[in-house]
Amino acid sequence: MNQVRVFAPATVANVSCGYDAMGFALQALGDEMLFTKTESKEVVISKIEGAKLPFSTDKNVVGVVAKLMLEDSKANFGVDVQIFKNFKPGSGLGSSAASASGSAFAINQLLGNKYSNIELTKFAMQGEVAACGSAIADNVAAAIYGGFILVRSYDPLDIIEIPSPPELVATIIHPQIEVKTEDSRKVIEPEIPIKTAIAQWANVGGLISGLHTSDFDLISRSLVDYVAEPARKHLIPHFDEVKNAAIEQGALGAGISGSGPSIFALSNGVETANNVAEAMNTIYKDKGIDYKIYISRISNQGAKVINPVSTSLQ
Ligand code: HSE
Repeated sequence: MNQVRVFAPATVANVSCGYDAMGFALQALGDEMLFTKTESKEVVISKIEGAKLPFSTDKNVVGVVAKLMLEDSKANFGVDVQIFKNFKPGSGLGSSAASASGSAFAINQLLGNKYSNIELTKFAMQGEVAACGSAIADNVAAAIYGGFILVRSYDPLDIIEIPSPPELVATIIHPQIEVKTEDSRKVIEPEIPIKTAIAQWANVGGLISGLHTSDFDLISRSLVDYVAEPARKHLIPHFDEVKNAAIEQGALGAGISGSGPSIFALSNGVETANNVAEAMNTIYKDKGIDYKIYISRISNQGAKVINPVSTSLQ
């Protein structure tokens, strides 16, 4: 294989109670990239559309991950990369993770599937280090494995795929401001009281059980975050109003997507997800806040090969 076009999904990390430990992939949103083998052993980013990102291989997460994998595998080729971003960095939707995971997946294709998903996740985590200074796995694992994932352990890395009911639909509103993950991580307290920890891990258990058994009431009761949301919500315009409106419209729960500023809600079925979108819309429209809104099922697929290309990549 000399060329591969890939799609890497946007992801919602944390999912309220699972700070740095849970995430899921979206079906309706993601980035596309075209990787072409070259004879020189260099990684060259020749085109970026849809976002202002560095072309320098060492500063762009796509380049960082590609270079790392080509070196690790002692590949006898380099790559030319074209990147088409469909959503902005600093959105809380795993923009850097989609780039890093898409790059890991694509290079693996060009290498004839040398690496496993857990190895690809480790490479993609190095992209997260380049992007925000922390080796976080929740977004990248969701973007590689697809579906819901649990990062059960970071050392050694242990990624668990969690089944989820097909009826679940996410509504996501993205106020058009940038929140840097690096900054958003600084507001989280490094230590929490034991009572808070108990409440939080009990909800993680509840959420995992609810997802396994399609118990929507249990999912709803468990979508509560005592750790990141209270510390971060001031970074997001009208967070409480948007969250309350989503829940009033029947959402099972709502919270901050990843490190924000996007807000996600999960609903049982498309009809409720549409009503939730309408309620979220109304709040930001009334307040004069520029935003984008997405309604998406959870993708059971992570990064994948696409053919023919569906963007302006050529
Ligand atoms: N779990 C990470 C955080 C996701 O909340 O900071 C970063 O997008």
